Amino acid sequence: MVVISACVVSMITFPMNIAEKLRNIMRGRLKAWGTTMARRKVWNREFADGRWDYIEHTPGDCIYYYIEKYCNNGSILDLGCGSGNTGNELDKKRYGDYLGVDISDIAVQKAIARSARSGRTDKNSYFASDVCAYVPHQRYDVILFRESIWYIPRRKLKAVLDRYRKFLKESGVFVVRMYDRHALADQVVLIKTNYDVIEEYLSNHSKDIVIVFR
Ligand SMILES: C[S@@+](CC[C@H](N)C(=O)[O-])C[C@H]1O[C@@H](n2cnc3c(N)ncnc32)[C@H](O)[C@@H]1O
Repeated sequence: MVVISACVVSMITFPMNIAEKLRNIMRGRLKAWGTTMARRKVWNREFADGRWDYIEHTPGDCIYYYIEKYCNNGSILDLGCGSGNTGNELDKKRYGDYLGVDISDIAVQKAIARSARSGRTDKNSYFASDVCAYVPHQRYDVILFRESIWYIPRRKLKAVLDRYRKFLKESGVFVVRMYDRHALADQVVLIKTNYDVIEEYLSNHSKDIVIVFR
């Protein structure tokens, strides 16, 4: 009896696991290769169903030191900003203005609501757009890709960075954070080959990397 029930359970869960894996593969493919509309739909669904809730609270993350160090109390453009962690966890006294751009309008709505709750509407603004198409309206001290460079198709990355470079102030920098420097080794090589690296942080106890360049 026990053997039969174990078999029945595995017959049910096996196809469910496969279906879940296939769904994840499809989501990954859509995020990388889909149209802007298809990508927005996938990200919106994930932000709405709580899949990304865990990134909402990241105080003390290594990225804040680098953003605050290079922004000179000035302007920050956060590309792929998510639901508002960066704009609300940065030390409020250490920056002048912050604009977060994200493909997901659900994430952007959450970020706007969070900035209102934390009394930062005077400093923080948000805009829903695909970063591959977004055109800034001013120059920035820091242009940030925090766990978002992965989603820029590899073949477009240099063109995207070159285009945004025109919106850095003279002393401005890109700050890129990735939680897995091995999985993103191609992107790291592209950055190191084509740009001036000013500072690099490699964590000793995780695969985190932060690269500051222009
Ligand atoms: C892993 S989350 C990181 C969010 C946040 N930067 C953080 O570190 O917590 C990646 C974010 O990039 C956004 N994103 C992905 N592709 C994008 C694109 N083409 N344009 C704008 N945002 C994009 C997603 O909606 C998501 O909010």
